[in-house]
Amino acid sequence: MPLPNSTENAINLAAVLSALKTLAYQNYQVPAVHDEELYKSINKYSGIKYCSLPIEVATRLVHTPRFVLSFVETRSAIKPEKKLKRTMAFTHTVIVTGGTVGLGYYAALNIAKAYPQYLVVLSSRTDRESAAQKINSTLGQDNVTFLALDLSSIAKVKKYAKEYSSKKFPPIIALLLNAGLQFPNEVTFTADGFESTFQVNHLGHAILLHHLSPHFAPGVRVTLTASGTHDPAQKSGMPDAIYTSAADLARPDPKTVTKDGRQRYSTSKLLNVMFGYALVRRIPSEQMTVNSFDPGLMPGTGLAREYSSFMRFIWNHVLPHLVPVLKLLVMDGNIHLPAESGANLAWVALSKETAGKNGVYYSGKKEIPSSIDSHIVEKQDDLWDWTVKEVTGGEEEYLSPK
Ligand SMILES: NC(=O)c1ccc[n+]([C@@H]2O[C@H](COP(=O)([O-])OP(=O)(O)OC[C@H]3O[C@@H](n4cnc5c(N)ncnc54)[C@H](OP(=O)(O)O)[C@@H]3O)[C@@H](O)[C@H]2O)c1
Repeated sequence: MPLPNSTENAINLAAVLSALKTLAYQNYQVPAVHDEELYKSINKYSGIKYCSLPIEVATRLVHTPRFVLSFVETRSAIKPEKKLKRTMAFTHTVIVTGGTVGLGYYAALNIAKAYPQYLVVLSSRTDRESAAQKINSTLGQDNVTFLALDLSSIAKVKKYAKEYSSKKFPPIIALLLNAGLQFPNEVTFTADGFESTFQVNHLGHAILLHHLSPHFAPGVRVTLTASGTHDPAQKSGMPDAIYTSAADLARPDPKTVTKDGRQRYSTSKLLNVMFGYALVRRIPSEQMTVNSFDPGLMPGTGLAREYSSFMRFIWNHVLPHLVPVLKLLVMDGNIHLPAESGANLAWVALSKETAGKNGVYYSGKKEIPSSIDSHIVEKQDDLWDWTVKEVTGGEEEYLSPK
């Protein structure tokens, strides 16, 4: 359907485009503007070249009263910080698992801000606080989106990978395997039959890595969010991480396993570091680099969601106010607000300073040694063999899915 050919409509359309420009939707297409006079008017009034809209939208907008359009323009001009800057195609994708709240949210915010050319995909079970939208409106950008992922189910991780593939996003330049949970009480199992902490914090991410690998850019940067609790020498106050065997940790005997789920958590963080090293030993760095990151203690995040209401109150409402004092008093100062650790995670994952680093364990921005156990090659290999067999069924090469 061609646009009405009149100068009056041209002026109206120019106003539409100008309003859209203010709102920064200027790369919409107007394929049917053939009329020379109309075209010139659009450029003159809107200052937008090559600008176009889907014809149905354009036709409808051309007939929108001018005062409505001026109102749109004025409103958007009053709030310049709300302007969207959708001006270019994205060059790469960055995925942040658990990017909707806590540490992952602030890492995603920092990445989206520093790299507007990258599409940042937040992936967790729900985006109940509209994190993607919140980051976009805070930054006045539109490079953050949400894609639902449930790491506690093999079928759901595969479904995520399939959906991801169908989106035709640009190559993945960084993958932040950050989502994590704690189940502080008795052992629980997922519907797949694995110990819950093991599946969410380790196995789900290993499956995700495998199924996303066809979309990796050369040299993709993988960052695993670990924790100081993986290392007994750090005396974090959590029960010591204990690596028995992958098979045992995946399906512990409920009759003999400890009731203290916090130990399963610190062990799952040890698995993150070990699996990272196992990857580094097998994958050439030109293909992929893998580092681990300890954000330090960050009271106030959702990590304590399964704790008692008293403990949750302390975690959410008392400790966050004490961070500056606690920094001076405990844990060598390794206690932070999530915003601070999120900026550190973004730095580890994508900065120029950390480019090319491989097999490094970061505590904040510092390179430090990880636990003694994490370096034991036999344990890494046991974890690797069990995981790869579980992920691939022994029928394909890990990280080269058909
Ligand atoms: N807080 C600390 O003191 C601390 C210290 C050291 C390390 N860490 C690590 O930091 C990471 C982030 O934790 P946080 O403190 O920011 O906690 P958080 O606020 O609870 O964030 C956890 C994120 O993981 C997602 N998640 C949980 N279960 C999931 C599942 N089954 N599938 C997909 N996503 C899932 C959550 O979203 P949904 O629930 O909507 O799925 C959420 O986005 C974790 O790996 C944690 O181990 C935290």
